[in-house]
Amino acid sequence: MAEMTTAAAQEREHMLEDAAEVDADGFGPSAASSEIVLDVNDLQTHFATRWGTVKAVDGVSYSVRRGETLGVVGESGSGKSVTALSIMRLVPSPPGHIVGGEVVLNGRNLLDLSEREMTQVRGGEVSMILQDPMTALNPVFTVENQVGEAIRIHQKLRGKDLWDSIVDALRKVRIPAPETRAKDYPHQLSGGMRQRVVGAIGISTSPDVIIADEPTTSLDVTIQAAYLRLLRQIQREAGVGIIFITHDFGIVAKMCDRVAVMYAGRIVETADVRTIFNEPLHEYTKALITSVPKLEEKTGRLPQIEGQPPLLYNLPEGDAFAPRSPLDFEEEDALIRPELVEVSPGHMVQLTRSSVADFDKYKHLVSYG
Ligand SMILES: Nc1ncnc2c1ncn2[C@@H]1O[C@H](COP(=O)(O)OP(=O)(O)OP(=O)(O)O)[C@@H](O)[C@H]1O
Ligand SMILES: [Mg+2]
Repeated sequence: MAEMTTAAAQEREHMLEDAAEVDADGFGPSAASSEIVLDVNDLQTHFATRWGTVKAVDGVSYSVRRGETLGVVGESGSGKSVTALSIMRLVPSPPGHIVGGEVVLNGRNLLDLSEREMTQVRGGEVSMILQDPMTALNPVFTVENQVGEAIRIHQKLRGKDLWDSIVDALRKVRIPAPETRAKDYPHQLSGGMRQRVVGAIGISTSPDVIIADEPTTSLDVTIQAAYLRLLRQIQREAGVGIIFITHDFGIVAKMCDRVAVMYAGRIVETADVRTIFNEPLHEYTKALITSVPKLEEKTGRLPQIEGQPPLLYNLPEGDAFAPRSPLDFEEEDALIRPELVEVSPGHMVQLTRSSVADFDKYKHLVSYG
């Protein structure tokens, strides 16, 4: 999405707002409760490559509450998807290995489960909804088959009970005439309807957490708006926690309750969505927010963040963001590995002099100073 005309950008903005029902400040409504359903703690996932070990996930911690949408943002290659795959225990192995941490879902550490137990969790308590319905649905099976499969495996339903459950799942995602649509093949449905079917599969087993991982390739804006609307609807109906992975900070404002910003396999800042936008502390977060396309900008070009994300198999010791930081700092400050500290309730920041302009204000919180 390198260039966009102002008119197209405006149209996109309207559709996304419509999809997410935002308030006057541009933020979406919240259905979050205080109960934590998923707690990822110091998760570490490495890939063994011929160039060395890629620390794709390097000590990630985040949690998701019931009914909450946690946005995970960061540039390409920052480890957002590998974190999600690690939660699902779907990291390709070899070369990938989860080498540390825990993923606690409803009180159980998923990393301790057998592969058989994990099969029950996947597509059961946790499910993934892909934005691109073409890659998520199998063209040779009917909607009934594909929605039914998840329900059969996880709820062991058969016959009329299975059928009722399929129709119910389709109805929940607002598919009209679900009894008829269930007999269709994917190609007989519109893009929006196919996406709803994917949503129906995602919620058919009443998951506690849904992971929505945005593909890098941008889809048609109407499909994107329909997808956001679908996720919102699912959350209202089912009260699930959603991990919403995206590049697009503009969508984050509309969709998310809290935000985790990832850089080089680590979380650099987490806070509720208003705090992230109004009082970001980490220079990387500030740069991402500045790169949100603004309607008044006539050029239609996204301002780029200076520099490149680091190569993860050759990570600098210390603060990975230091080479791109706009701040003045001593070389030795860049060598300090930042600690993620809570600067105010719910607002966590990776704190070093090389990445946080207000370092002195908070330095009593860290062991280096
Ligand atoms: N199978 C693999 N073998 C080696 N390295 C891998 C493998 N899969 C992912 N990685 C590396 O892990 C890092 C994190 O990748 P990940 O897919 O999580 O990024 P991402 O934040 O989801 O990016 P995007 O926004 O482009 O989807 C990258 O450096 C990537 O090269
Ligand atoms: Mg990804």
